[in-house]
Amino acid sequence: MVDVPTAPGTSRRGFYLTFIYGLWGLIAAALAAPALLYLLLPPKIRRGSEWIEAADVTQLQPRVPVEVVFRKNRVDGWKITSEKETAWVVKLSDQQTVAFGPQCTHLGCAYHWDEAKSEFLCPCHNSVFAVNGAVISGPAPRPLDRYETKIQDGKLLLGQLRQSTGSKA
Ligand code: FES
Repeated sequence: MVDVPTAPGTSRRGFYLTFIYGLWGLIAAALAAPALLYLLLPPKIRRGSEWIEAADVTQLQPRVPVEVVFRKNRVDGWKITSEKETAWVVKLSDQQTVAFGPQCTHLGCAYHWDEAKSEFLCPCHNSVFAVNGAVISGPAPRPLDRYETKIQDGKLLLGQLRQSTGSKA
């Protein structure tokens, strides 16, 4: 019998080693791919601005604030949570309906509508706001913050809460 010389890597042993290393490589790639995707891809990008239905405009009385409660999604990295939020909605005129953020612009206390005085009152340090959100008195440095709003099919939709500019009157 004559020994046939074989080129390196073409023996049965070489074939098995190549096969085993290849298999290990595939397994390593399968395990590493999800981890790399997790680390390298940015978190879910927040979808544009989210509009949330908050009130039926036809049910609002002129210049009578209504506190509405709605749920809003909050995106924190990969985590999305649904939170309950509130707004004070006021139909100032047939053309203008506004929605105020629920916190006083002084130190963030919850204020309420005083029916008798027709004013928003903050009990913490006695800031007083007019029905249009302007500061009447107290330490509040600026008018009430407002949500972006739009009306669609008679429904009031709320967008992002925007910090008010301006100062007290
Ligand atoms: S938090 Fe409202 S007056 Fe201070």
